[in-house]
Amino acid sequence: MSKKLTISSIKKSKGQKPLVMITAYDALFAKLLSVSADMILVGDSLNMSFAGKSDTISATLEQMIYHTNAVCSGAPESFIICDMPFGTYINKEEALKNSIAVFQKTQADCVKVEGGEDKAHIVKYLTDNAIAVCGHIGLLPQSVRSEGGYKVKGKTEEEKESLIKDAKAIENAGAFCMVIEGVKAEVAKEVASSVSIPVIGIGAGKDVDGQVLVFSDMLGLFEEFTPKFVKKYMDGATLVRSALSHYAEEVVNGDFPKEEHTY
Ligand code: KIV
Repeated sequence: MSKKLTISSIKKSKGQKPLVMITAYDALFAKLLSVSADMILVGDSLNMSFAGKSDTISATLEQMIYHTNAVCSGAPESFIICDMPFGTYINKEEALKNSIAVFQKTQADCVKVEGGEDKAHIVKYLTDNAIAVCGHIGLLPQSVRSEGGYKVKGKTEEEKESLIKDAKAIENAGAFCMVIEGVKAEVAKEVASSVSIPVIGIGAGKDVDGQVLVFSDMLGLFEEFTPKFVKKYMDGATLVRSALSHYAEEVVNGDFPKEEHTY
């Protein structure tokens, strides 16, 4: 396993080496995924792939703390990001109180908040109070209901300018890196080159400073829907089903357990 990254090594990686970020929600997967990932994001996407909900909106701070703790236990040498769930950073005081709870109850290295210029004052307040922040701009899953769906950003000149403003505002507020989601590739490229901190893409093309994927998407375990930007590196759901049907068959026909599995 490579050495744990720090805020400063992450910032310095810009222009040197693409960063590999992956989500994880439990100790088991965190340990497996930590071998090749630079950073592990305990994303509120866990509300969909782990808790079975249709969006991230109902994820709670308690849930995020529980899962972040599990991930930190499984991957103590990894740089861990805890996603702040919907409604926990509506103003700077709430944001600080809830981020302090994350820092005090877990070993997370930073928090992630969604939003651009409009959330810059919150990012600043957190970073001024020793809470490292990863931003998240572009398509914001926590705004899915107010926006009426998941909408790709950067389709117009106006949207491009606004994304660049968002990225600069988040950088100036003290964030050490940011995620950019669901943005036209050529625009994400311009956004990444407009700031000096790493911009990690998801559905934002390859000309950014790293990539993040939801682990259950890339392992082919989550079957509800597959966004265009997901590459399935394994057909996990088929493998799991086939292993389980093999097990069930052996239980039924008496082939399991055998002598070697018996005390
Ligand atoms: O919650 C999450 O997993 C995320 C990623 C999609 C970046 O925010």
